[in-house]
Amino acid sequence: MILNNTVNDCKLIDLPIIRNRAGNITPINNLIDIPFAIQRVYYLYDVPGGAERGGHAHKTLKQLIIAASGSFEISISDGNSKKVFCLNQPYQGLIIVPGIWRELKNFSSGSICLVFASEIYDESDYIRDFNEFKILRNDASIS
Ligand code: TYD
Repeated sequence: MILNNTVNDCKLIDLPIIRNRAGNITPINNLIDIPFAIQRVYYLYDVPGGAERGGHAHKTLKQLIIAASGSFEISISDGNSKKVFCLNQPYQGLIIVPGIWRELKNFSSGSICLVFASEIYDESDYIRDFNEFKILRNDASIS
């Protein structure tokens, strides 16, 4: 379990763009345009105005999060420091490493949150309680 990552290990990356007058393409090649092997892709859509998502951390999961359409905000915390990112370009993505609490909010109408994940879905990889998260983080920083 990598719980000593900090918010500074989470990076905004620029993805490739193939520009064309008739529209652009952003390709994501496994292990080339993304720094981990992709095991799962999912996307969040039809988010009602004012809704908030996330509110958890992962023990081992790495993710690349992209606003494929529209915009939303991601707040991340390592239990010590916080950072807020606004994703609003389909060619930019935020890498979130394990051990980071995340909250997503301020979804624009019709926005699509596209996620590339390093593992298939596993509920036991989630930490859904912020107090438990802080305890695990503090233990990790002592050991
Ligand atoms: P969750 O990851 O908590 O959503 P968010 O972070 O967007 O708020 O997932 C919500 C529910 O969907 C939860 O019951 C687990 C389920 N789920 C899957 O079954 N497979 C998946 O790949 C994902 C991402 C979620």
